[in-house]
Amino acid sequence: MVQLKSVNKHYGSLHVLKDINLEVGKGEVIILLGPSGSGKSTLCRTINRLETIDSGSISIDGKILPEEGKELANLRAEVGMVFQSFNLFAHKSILDNVTLGPRKVRGLSKTEAEEEAMALLRKVGVDSQAQKMPAQLSGGQQQRVAIARALAMRPKVMLFDEPTSALDPEMVNEVLDTMVNLAREGMTMIVVTHEMGFARRAADRIVFLANGEIVEQATPDEFFSNPKSDRAKDFLGKILNH
Ligand SMILES: Nc1ncnc2c1ncn2[C@@H]1O[C@H](COP(=O)(O)OP(=O)(O)O)[C@@H](O)[C@H]1O
Ligand SMILES: [Mg+2]
Repeated sequence: MVQLKSVNKHYGSLHVLKDINLEVGKGEVIILLGPSGSGKSTLCRTINRLETIDSGSISIDGKILPEEGKELANLRAEVGMVFQSFNLFAHKSILDNVTLGPRKVRGLSKTEAEEEAMALLRKVGVDSQAQKMPAQLSGGQQQRVAIARALAMRPKVMLFDEPTSALDPEMVNEVLDTMVNLAREGMTMIVVTHEMGFARRAADRIVFLANGEIVEQATPDEFFSNPKSDRAKDFLGKILNH
């Protein structure tokens, strides 16, 4: 579903993605782990072309991501993204937040878009909040709306970049549970997270990144019980032993 071939990216003299080769199958859940600054966010952002790449190629469902233009907009719509900060439109209701994209990009009528949006809001458990404004919702609720909004575009892949890092601890699980449900329904997902319990539970594969390189890939069981590289051992030592 997602294929990166020899992807390289620099920020000036910083080689931030080094020859990344990664294939994500349909319905697969990949968890990207790695120290801060290792390039996880950059990797996510290149997959929907929020960042350009210097060389290599990225394809979604067999189609190479173009540099720009209408074709890029279409392909980008196939990749949903949820960030650490909720990024809802502050001056629009929850319902409008979810219907806006489908009306503009998918050309749905107001009624069609609202029906779909309500079903998605129900799925993530916030349908009772549809008429409210984002600021009236808790962080966990807002993040679930952000997930519904991304799903409303009918993406083939969902990217999550630390979706629970900005939440109060008691709200983390409601968002992770929503993501687990999505994974169970067969969504292809690439997730950056520091929630190791979730990573163990939900990942088909852990991809460990350090200094812009994929250092190790393994099943969660293998990775957490028997990390191969010193960098992965060091990383796990730091996050698990406190
Ligand atoms: N827009 C940018 N301009 C210059 N350097 C950047 C930019 N974005 C990220 N970086 C640098 O690229 C490296 C990787 O960043 P990032 O992908 O955000 O890592 P991670 O998400 O793993 O913490 C870091 O050294 C960061 O400082
Ligand atoms: Mg990051």
